[in-house]
Amino acid sequence: MRIAVTGATGVLGQEAVTALVAAGHEVTGITRQDRGVPVVEGRGARSVVADVFDETAMTRVLRGHDVVINTLGHMPVGMTAMRPLAWREDDRLHAEASVAIAAGAARAGVRKLIQESTVYLYPDNGDEWIGEDKPLSVRNQAFRPRVQEMRAAVDFATGGRSAVILRLGQLFGRDPQSTYALRAVREGDPILLGKPSSYITLLHHRDAGRAFVAALQAGSGFYNVGGEPIRRERWAKDLGREAKADGPAKFFPEIAQTLVGTRLDVQRRSLRVSSLRFLGETGWRPTIGPSTPGWSHL
Ligand SMILES: NC(=O)c1ccc[n+]([C@@H]2O[C@H](COP(=O)([O-])OP(=O)(O)OC[C@H]3O[C@@H](n4cnc5c(N)ncnc54)[C@H](OP(=O)(O)O)[C@@H]3O)[C@@H](O)[C@H]2O)c1
Repeated sequence: MRIAVTGATGVLGQEAVTALVAAGHEVTGITRQDRGVPVVEGRGARSVVADVFDETAMTRVLRGHDVVINTLGHMPVGMTAMRPLAWREDDRLHAEASVAIAAGAARAGVRKLIQESTVYLYPDNGDEWIGEDKPLSVRNQAFRPRVQEMRAAVDFATGGRSAVILRLGQLFGRDPQSTYALRAVREGDPILLGKPSSYITLLHHRDAGRAFVAALQAGSGFYNVGGEPIRRERWAKDLGREAKADGPAKFFPEIAQTLVGTRLDVQRRSLRVSSLRFLGETGWRPTIGPSTPGWSHL
């Protein structure tokens, strides 16, 4: 298939491109800057420099493709994420670029949109499993861009087109967030939010890349994508081991956790997310878990 990937130089985008090329697809990686070109071409795809906020440009670039995979994002790393302004770029990408891409793709005759989203839209569900039909917790203004993005994908899925929205677990691997966390663990600084007994659903970025390939077979709809959920106390131990630190990763004291602000507050939620729908529909399986030694180098 002819597949276009936006955000192709990002953590998720690069993994998606590599997995799609390995699966034999003809891939176009879209980047906004010339210095993204070697990154995309190094992964075996054709590159195009274009403005993802411009619907007309997207229509032109996406013409001739069967599928578009949108992995755009700009997540602030570490404690800078406490500042609402640090999310401005990420918000704009989800509220405006994702909408331009979905509309441009429809006009260009693309038949399928695969849209990256996140499990952090679910509310805290304690020890209960979370399937795709659980209501979301998106009433806060901060989640509006993700809602607009979802709406654009749903609107795309009319007139015989399909849209697959992947709610990805928290990424771990070689990405900047994980590198930051491992450094904090080595230095003995607190890094984890939430209660030790609460659940987290993780997804290695290599498995995320494979999930985009698997999603080519999925019908329109929402799908959770993550590994077996684990309690955060176990994640703390896995982080400690991977960092080669003296002990497990530390949690922020409860009082500090109440001050992190809306954006980081989601990371205090207990999210025991089930990916059974995606597994059943596509046969995708996670291959790298948080206790897989060396996961931060894979
Ligand atoms: N990290 C996690 O735990 C996690 C978990 C689930 C979901 N996600 C989400 O996954 C998405 C992608 O994450 P990622 O870590 O792969 O992102 P990333 O590496 O930070 O960036 C993705 C790409 O987006 C493009 N981009 C960034 N800012 C842009 C801007 N202002 N204008 C145009 N393009 C811009 C860049 O491509 P060019 O510079 O080449 O144009 C960049 O390579 C985000 O929405 C993130 O929230 C992350």
